[in-house]
Amino acid sequence: MEKRAVTFASVLQNPIYKNRDMIYSLVPKTGLLHRTEQKNELIMELAPILMNSAVSCVFMYGNPGTGKTSVITELLDELTDEANKRDVNMQQAYVNCSENRTETTILIDILSQLNPKRIYPRVGWTRAKALTEFKKVSNDLNTNIIVVLDEVDYALKESGDDVLYRLSRINERLKSNISTILISNDVRVADYIKPKTQSTLGRVKVIFSAYTAEELYDIVKDRAKNAFNKDVVSDPVMQKIAEIEAARGGDARRVLEMLDSCAKIAISRNSKKITLDLVDEAEKTLEKDTILSVVASLTKHQKLLFLAMIQSTKKQLNGGKVNLLYREVCEKQNVSPLSVRSVRTFIVNLSELGLISSEVTWLRDLRKKSRAISLNLDAATRKKLRKVIRDSI
Ligand SMILES: Nc1ncnc2c1ncn2[C@@H]1O[C@H](COP(=O)(O)OP(=O)(O)O)[C@@H](O)[C@H]1O
Ligand SMILES: [Mg+2]
Repeated sequence: MEKRAVTFASVLQNPIYKNRDMIYSLVPKTGLLHRTEQKNELIMELAPILMNSAVSCVFMYGNPGTGKTSVITELLDELTDEANKRDVNMQQAYVNCSENRTETTILIDILSQLNPKRIYPRVGWTRAKALTEFKKVSNDLNTNIIVVLDEVDYALKESGDDVLYRLSRINERLKSNISTILISNDVRVADYIKPKTQSTLGRVKVIFSAYTAEELYDIVKDRAKNAFNKDVVSDPVMQKIAEIEAARGGDARRVLEMLDSCAKIAISRNSKKITLDLVDEAEKTLEKDTILSVVASLTKHQKLLFLAMIQSTKKQLNGGKVNLLYREVCEKQNVSPLSVRSVRTFIVNLSELGLISSEVTWLRDLRKKSRAISLNLDAATRKKLRKVIRDSI
């Protein structure tokens, strides 16, 4: 069937969206739902700032999409309002550590927020210089400072925990009170922090659990009410979206993406409503997109290995066979293969990323352990993946 042509005009005329930005706004004007417990805990921890007292470091953990960034953003706004009302001096710096992974870049990002009058260079400073400047600026400010290190797991994995250690010790010598809030997507974040640092950090942990289907439904419904025109999306559609995502991991971001993706498909078909069948389609599209972006982020040899597996037509492969296929691919690409041991590690990596399933089984006759590897990908996705990998090696 010939595809229907969409034009800019037809997209804009479509009556689905009332206000598309409402789908993704970090803190919607209707507020965040179902996080009262976490907010209460955080308010109890942060309230001393309004009494000019530093807070010991607070940890917030939870998988992606569980509302950590949005909750802290909402609370810091409320805290700022309250501080203004009470004439409490307060300044805050928010750093995303997936963008700033070293102690120096983190400190420079904090500095540019605390001292906006000065332009700090993005590169070229040593850690010592940044630290001296940070101490000087925070001392001169003589105020309550809140530092939020979001996605701190990235910085910890890449540069170690020195930055945390120093931040936790810094209050002893300053006129300002520095309170630190650490946010991590990786719940095993404590594994990356040395005992010495752990003991100087506070013990306050606020856990963000995955959302249930009911909670996701409420979140989707609240956004849809403001983002779409009346009757565009029905309750069963929103329930289905919520249930699919609850089963997969309880991620609010993905639920909103699915809603948006349904709307897009509806518009491209010139339809005025989001119907149940579109949910399945949107789900498939998103699934494919996530695989593609995961694959794009692999290292060269992980890509070669994955390419070797998707080129094979066999339903199931074992470790030895995979290694052979990998060597063939390497030869074709004119790169020298890595050791069998590295390949084994990569197989584990790929399976942790959900790209393949692999389990260790006993070979029936040989009394030997072997790895059974299988891929659950349709032909179209395989084809797309092959192209993505070849283009990016
Ligand atoms: N409880 C909630 N109520 C409404 N929207 C939410 C809620 N939790 C998360 N969201 C939305 O989901 C998206 C992801 O949330 P975010 O706070 O960025 O998650 P995290 O930082 O844990 O990865 C954001 O657009 C956010 O507004
Ligand atoms: Mg976040």
